[in-house]
Amino acid sequence: AEALPQGYVLRALRKSDYSTGFLDCLRVLTTVGEIAQSEFEERYDWMAKQDGSYFVIVIEDTSRGKVVGTGALIVERKFVHRLGRVGHIEDIAVDKDQQGKKLGLRLIQALDYIAEKVGCYKAILDCSEANEGFYVKCGFRRAGLEMAHYY
Ligand code: ACO
Repeated sequence: AEALPQGYVLRALRKSDYSTGFLDCLRVLTTVGEIAQSEFEERYDWMAKQDGSYFVIVIEDTSRGKVVGTGALIVERKFVHRLGRVGHIEDIAVDKDQQGKKLGLRLIQALDYIAEKVGCYKAILDCSEANEGFYVKCGFRRAGLEMAHYY
């Protein structure tokens, strides 16, 4: 994969990212709500314990120490396909003022790399029609149809 722009690093989410703009970055995607630091840390610890099932990555603008992009890979262990693994790509977000710099593409490339590395036979995601072009540029293609039941 090609490099990030100068001054940006891609890394795993850290417990200290409560104070680096990670949650604000997710707010471009959907409602986040008010989350206390203790609640954030509890969820972080829980994910870390799931033994290779949760990979949350971020892109940090090092000059500001701010998280400007994030994405997650959840690895599902199945019975079918001989105990196959499926990667679920979730919660991709790039700060509004940082969009169009290929940061989203780099996030997807990184999550794709992890998915293949941990033995997934495919990676899948749900997105809006408005984002289809972005994922096509990332090498994905339309497959199936999402259904949802909200509670
Ligand atoms: N439609 C068509 N093409 C697009 C779109 C789009 N909506 N967005 C980006 N592209 C193209 C870019 O023009 C670029 O093309 P190029 O290589 O020809 O120049 C290529 O896709 C890569 O774009 P990036 O610069 O990497 O995209 P960016 O960093 O802006 O991130 C993202 C894209 C993640 C969709 C961002 O706009 C964003 O955070 N949007 C709001 C939140 C969101 O919708 N997230 C995705 C939800 S789906 C999910 O999480 C599974």
